[in-house]
Amino acid sequence: MSNYHIKNFPEYFHEYRKSVRNPELFWEEIAEEHFLWRKKWDNVLSWDFAKPEVKWFEGSKLNITENCIDRHLFTKGDKTAILFEPNDPKEPATHISYKELHARVNQMANVLKSKGIKKGDRVCIYLPMIPELAVSLLACARIGAIHSVVFAGFSANALATRINDSDCKMVLTSDGSYRGVKTIDLKGIVDEALESCSTVESVLVVKRIQSEINMKDGRDFWLEPLLAGASTDCEPEIMDAEDPLFILYTSGSTGKPKGMVHSTAGYMVYTAYTFKNVFQYRDSDVYWCTADIGWITGHSYIVYGPLANGATTVMFEGVPSYPDFGRFWEIVEKHKINQFYTAPTAIRALAKEGVQHVEQHDLSSIKVLGTVGEPINEEAWHWYDDNVGKKKAPIVDTWWQTETGGILITPIPFCTPTKPTYATLPFLGIQPALMDENGQEIKGNQAEGRLCIKFPWPSMARTIWGNHQRYKDTYFSAFENKYFTGDGALRDEVGYYRITGRVDDVIIVSGHNMGTAPIEDAINEHPAVAESAIVGFPHEVKGNALYGYVTLKETGESRNHDNLRKEINQMITEQIGPIAKLDKIQFTAGLPKTRSGKIMRRILRKIASNDTSNLGDTSTLLNPEVVQDIMDNVL
Ligand code: PRX
Repeated sequence: MSNYHIKNFPEYFHEYRKSVRNPELFWEEIAEEHFLWRKKWDNVLSWDFAKPEVKWFEGSKLNITENCIDRHLFTKGDKTAILFEPNDPKEPATHISYKELHARVNQMANVLKSKGIKKGDRVCIYLPMIPELAVSLLACARIGAIHSVVFAGFSANALATRINDSDCKMVLTSDGSYRGVKTIDLKGIVDEALESCSTVESVLVVKRIQSEINMKDGRDFWLEPLLAGASTDCEPEIMDAEDPLFILYTSGSTGKPKGMVHSTAGYMVYTAYTFKNVFQYRDSDVYWCTADIGWITGHSYIVYGPLANGATTVMFEGVPSYPDFGRFWEIVEKHKINQFYTAPTAIRALAKEGVQHVEQHDLSSIKVLGTVGEPINEEAWHWYDDNVGKKKAPIVDTWWQTETGGILITPIPFCTPTKPTYATLPFLGIQPALMDENGQEIKGNQAEGRLCIKFPWPSMARTIWGNHQRYKDTYFSAFENKYFTGDGALRDEVGYYRITGRVDDVIIVSGHNMGTAPIEDAINEHPAVAESAIVGFPHEVKGNALYGYVTLKETGESRNHDNLRKEINQMITEQIGPIAKLDKIQFTAGLPKTRSGKIMRRILRKIASNDTSNLGDTSTLLNPEVVQDIMDNVL
């Protein structure tokens, strides 16, 4: 018998021991007792990190939407599945029941089919946080199409790169989106992207902001009339356990974004089981994760994990600052939110605006608070604990990644004693390891090293779309027979983990992964720029912000070109999106380089962070003189 709902610390220990002694049996029992299978598996797990290859529940047949929707229809048909809170507080919230969700997903699935989408086709979804977004993910899953959601804040260029990388056949979008007082012309961005995408045959458009847009004959279709004419029945496509469910792009330290591929059965089992336990979700609860579905947090913990548990999950279209900084707390009060899951950057931004915004609202419904996306600093942790949770709601600091599919290190509320800034203990089935510089595992507590995972878990990404070698090189080559996370961590005297941050060139800005290479590429396209280097530096609200060192072609040019700074940020906005804009741009005479020509980012990082006491030996550099010059002109 499995224990689907862990309720206290001894239960956690007992189950954890079981889960690492015999992971196959542990996951088999969970899978067997809590999900709907069209056919059971022949083999629970086969794996080889050297290839790398991981397969869970091989031979089984299922459809994830039957698990997320159909099986709840008899018991919870009228329960709210998705509670939609619009950008404008004057617009009423919408409650979509499981029955309605079933009908809407089937209609959308039938529309996709009518436009020629079939099992295995890739569909790009570029939509704001409106119900159609969740419905489209599920509609793809219903018919076995692979969804690739692109966050609707990315630029036309970034969108085109992602569409082309996985040869998407269709794009789902809207006329535009609301963001506080602003509107964004999403369809215009799609039109621009599609100028360089040859695989897209059709574009389906949701009417959201009623703006005038261009509709290309034969390619673009309004979704509403198509949905109205579509049947509310759609037989689910029966999928193999390891069939891809979706692709989601994440930044790497170099090169183009990586299309992480997640498979069906393992992803479903792990996200559902973690959701239940990490948030201690009970049947009448209303759960709200403030992430966007454009990121993995939204995929796993707004859509799939909650719906697989028959939960009520909130989708919020707006921003925390509109119409004022009390908006989150107003929503908590209005919908009596029981579990609230957000990012440290949001907590810091709201804390800065003062506690009065929180105090105006009744937050007594909150039972569990969550954070994700970046390390949470002690001050933000206490502000959250004191003012939002009133010291009564445990904070789950959940550590995980796009690649891991689900939460790997986290407290279980009411079970694990929390400790500020610590993600605490591994979730069931997760076997972390800290590695030293020489590639050896550091045993025992009170250690610091590179964080790896030693054994597969069901929701790990299976490959990078179109580039398995890169998957191997990035995650399975640094340490033999281990998944390398790219993060550093320390383990305290009782075995709690604290994530210290990235150890590669990925910078987490406001909880979003930023690879330095694509930003540098964008800057280098400016005709005045010779070369550039991007590093992160500590920022009060964003956690990290981006600092650019830029060398111009004409060295005689003034170093204080505000216009040039604007142009550079404009280029970044066009190539990637506003989230990648630089906070500071310093024009330099040159960049410090090793004799082999590699930019010494370590030195640049220290200078940008105002930490120049120990720059290390700079005499071996090709051009040591530039270091002093950069220090003298630091911003
Ligand atoms: O550095 C870690 C940080 O975010 C990275 C993963 O980013 P992404 O793939 O965008 O997924 C974010 C949402 C799951 C990690 O490698 N990170 C995530 N959660 C935490 C964290 N760092 C510290 N504490 C966390 N709780």
